[in-house]
Amino acid sequence: MFASSLEIEAFVAVDSKNGIAKDGKIPWKSKTDMKFFKEKTTGSIIIMGSTTLASLPNAMPLPNRINIVVTRTPAKFTCYPKYSQLDNIFFWDEATLFEFFTNPDSDNHKKVFVIGGQQIYNLCMPFCSAIWLTKIKMDYNCDLHLTLLDTNVNNVHYEDDELQIILIPLRPLQALVAS
Ligand SMILES: NC(=O)c1ccc[n+]([C@@H]2O[C@H](COP(=O)([O-])OP(=O)(O)OC[C@H]3O[C@@H](n4cnc5c(N)ncnc54)[C@H](OP(=O)(O)O)[C@@H]3O)[C@@H](O)[C@H]2O)c1
Repeated sequence: MFASSLEIEAFVAVDSKNGIAKDGKIPWKSKTDMKFFKEKTTGSIIIMGSTTLASLPNAMPLPNRINIVVTRTPAKFTCYPKYSQLDNIFFWDEATLFEFFTNPDSDNHKKVFVIGGQQIYNLCMPFCSAIWLTKIKMDYNCDLHLTLLDTNVNNVHYEDDELQIILIPLRPLQALVAS
């Protein structure tokens, strides 16, 4: 039985064909989406794969957030001087991550967001209680895609000519096990 009371949500942005990346990067730049992402995640814990960290500017963590990077070889990263001096980045293997998901510190009241990429969405989605999904309306000819369930358009949080932001509630594994 899971003891978790952590609220874990995912942030995902897809193009019109459910693409998430092209040539190792997100191929669109949306000020609206970046602003929304920043507002929601500032002050929280974000979880990403090591490939997504590598895709960030200078492979550095996002500021004003605790960055947890999932990797099979944490030791490879923790010895890099550029990371060892920072207090907002941690490198965890799967066992450490799942221990955090299932037995979080009782005094941890921060929100937790899974921010990608594809491998880490697949790994963490069973623990998520919702997805904040940004649907970019254009096709960016991506080479990395997600398989997403049909989205409920009743939950549109925001929409303009460029994109739609949808909140998709999920039933996390914890709830299924508890019921
Ligand atoms: N559109 C979006 O919303 C969005 C969001 C985020 C990222 N992206 C894009 O997605 C791409 C990266 O996605 P990706 O799927 O290739 O990589 P990823 O999920 O970011 O990271 C993959 C890495 O995570 C680690 N990993 C995966 N499964 C693991 C497990 N079970 N246990 C421990 N570590 C594990 C491995 O790191 P090690 O190799 O170090 O062991 C693996 O190489 C980038 O191009 C990025 O720009 C798009």
